[in-house]
Amino acid sequence: TIYRASTTAPVNIAVVKYWGKRDPKLNLPTNSSLSVTLSQADLRTLTTASCSASYLASEGDSLLLNGEPSDVSGARTQACFRELRTRRAALEAADPSLPKLSTMPLRLVSENNFPTAAGLASSAAGFAAFVRAIANLYELPASPSELSLIARQGSGSACRSLFGGYVAWRMGSAADGSDSMADQVAEAAHWPEMRALILVVSAAKKGVSSTSGMQQTVATSGLFQERIARVVPQNMDAMEKAIKERDFAAFAEVTMRDSNSFHATCADTYPPIFYMNDVSRAAIRAVEAINAAAGRTVAAYTFDAGPNAVIYYLEQDTEAVVGTFYHVLGDMDGWKREVLSGLKPTLSLDESVAGLLKAGVSRIIMTGVGEGPLKTEEY
Ligand code: DP6
Repeated sequence: TIYRASTTAPVNIAVVKYWGKRDPKLNLPTNSSLSVTLSQADLRTLTTASCSASYLASEGDSLLLNGEPSDVSGARTQACFRELRTRRAALEAADPSLPKLSTMPLRLVSENNFPTAAGLASSAAGFAAFVRAIANLYELPASPSELSLIARQGSGSACRSLFGGYVAWRMGSAADGSDSMADQVAEAAHWPEMRALILVVSAAKKGVSSTSGMQQTVATSGLFQERIARVVPQNMDAMEKAIKERDFAAFAEVTMRDSNSFHATCADTYPPIFYMNDVSRAAIRAVEAINAAAGRTVAAYTFDAGPNAVIYYLEQDTEAVVGTFYHVLGDMDGWKREVLSGLKPTLSLDESVAGLLKAGVSRIIMTGVGEGPLKTEEY
């Protein structure tokens, strides 16, 4: 017999950023964070987990990622395997009639529906799908929050991809990490109009990984202390309130301030770390011009550990936001025709801003808030 289960898991983009570990081994953060889960129609990982007594023990556990064998010997992947097996073994000990899946080698086959080269945080969707698929295979009675404890050990941001909608990762205080997990602040259906336009910007060279960058920030930035003690706690409260009240202006201001604060601590790291480039800064200028022209806040930018811009906006403001970028960027990969048709020509951006965007944006992704992991039967 081959036992098998599949799941998808979404990408999430934080609006209050996780940056800093108080325990690098357990992936325990120095601050809570909050993200929006993005639609799996555009961005998702699909993972199938299988196990069988007929799989050769000598082959051990394996992972095929986008068709290529991937190393599973890393401490984080091993921690996820271990945690899941321990939970399955407990079920098997309590009910001897269950097949002994915990003793069999695991095979994982994982695929992204978006190009890895886009430099989008695929580790979040990847580890969330990894954990969810094995939990499904093992029929673990664990809630998404419990599974988020395990996914967190794979990659911090992955713990937020176990849920759809608007998701918080509570930093917790326990030394063993037992209270550092994700929960859902609001379902996607609570505020379904939320959209995200991702401007994919190619980096000249590979930047500092988030794992290493945040360790350097923790070790050397003074500004970082202010961020974790005061800025983030305030942003978390304001963001949860903005989401509950569907207050886009408040959501947008906290999103932009928090991204700026995170990148300020990167600049305050010694030596400094720069994730944004001239094209990223042009995207900020464009958002400011769009908001000024609209006379209210209709768009919010945020940047992770790379130059790509993620721009949140509400569906009703598609013309002001998407229309402006479409006007500048013209035809390229990723535009959704059905959304573009009928958009009136909008605001012309400053020539230098438009020039930087035109030269630096290589593709765009139009997406929006979406659901959490789905068993593939449901998908
Ligand atoms: C800037 O989750 O990739 O995207 O825990 O070391 O795997 P590790 O880091 P990772 O860091 C993500 C950092 C961020 C902000 C965020 O997603 O909250």
